[in-house]
Parts: sequence; C-alpha cells; structure tokens
Amino acid sequence: MASPKRDKIVLMRPLQWNDSYSIFLPEIDAEHRNLFRLANDLHAALLSNAPEARLQEALQAFVADIEDHFSHEERLMRSTGYGSYLWHKRQHDGVRQRTKQALEQFAAGDREALSALLEHFAGWLRDHTGLTDRMLGAYLRNYERRPIVAAPAQRFTARKNARPAPSCPAMPRAPAS
Ligand SMILES: [Fe+2]
Ligand SMILES: [Fe+2]
Repeated sequence: MASPKRDKIVLMRPLQWNDSYSIFLPEIDAEHRNLFRLANDLHAALLSNAPEARLQEALQAFVADIEDHFSHEERLMRSTGYGSYLWHKRQHDGVRQRTKQALEQFAAGDREALSALLEHFAGWLRDHTGLTDRMLGAYLRNYERRPIVAAPAQRFTARKNARPAPSCPAMPRAPAS
C-alpha cells in the first residue's frame, strides 16, 4: 500500500452528539450516538497515521455499523408501512454507494478517500438525522400510539438480531386493545 499522505487528510469537525440530534426514539438515538463515535474513532485513526491493523479495525466497525443502522431503519419503515420509505432509503443508498467507492479507493492505497468520505458523512449525518430521521421518528412514535397495532411480528421494536442498547429504556408500548 502506498504511504499515506497525512497532510491531505481533512480535519473533519468532530461529531459531537447533543439533544438537537435526538429523534426521541431511544433505540435509534443510541445507534446514532454510536455512529458519531465510530466516525470520530476512524477519523482519529487517520489523523494519527495509525498502523494498518488499527485503521482496518476502525474502518470495519464504522462500515458495519452504518449498514446495520440503515437496515434497521429500513425494516422499521417497511414493517410499519412508512409512506416516505423510498425517499428515505435513497438517502441511505447514496451513502452506501459513496462508502463503497471510498473502500475501493482505500484498498488501492488511498487514505485520503476515507478522509473525504468522513467529511461528507459528518455533514450528511447531521442533516439526515435532523430532518429525515426525525420525520421517521415522529411517524414511528405515532404508529406505536395507534389504538389498533400491527401484529406482534410487525411491531417496530421487533428487530432481527437486535443488540440491546444498555442505556436505553424499552420503546414505549401502545396500550393493549
Ligand atoms: Fe435514516
Ligand atoms: Fe439514522
């Protein structure tokens, strides 16, 4: 792999979680916080010119978490009949595509591609969380409050391979009908 050109690594403004990013669904907020953390971790590894193994570890964690989170939101949208599913998913797909390109460039020895990806992702995540995910959060909260709820298998809290979010209380449940 070519030697890294650290001087061209973009100094991304660290992602700092605050309440303005909350979509008021503890499970999703926890995932967003984790994405913030993993993006910062990868950026720190790039800035410190970390060894290849350390960089790969941070990169794999970041990429896996993006897909895990996007897939989770998309399952929630499908299982609850969310009307803006395609619009929302297209935004996820844009990041998927950009990430795939950056990974190919990185595999060819270009660390700057990861830096550029992170800079793009940081801005995207702030915007996407603040609008698109917030709209989804409002929809899901209302969905849960409906007096007649979907079948148990379709409840949006039913997540395949769900990982418990330690600091997050369970999703609010609609009253039994
Ligand atoms: Fe989203
Ligand atoms: Fe999200």
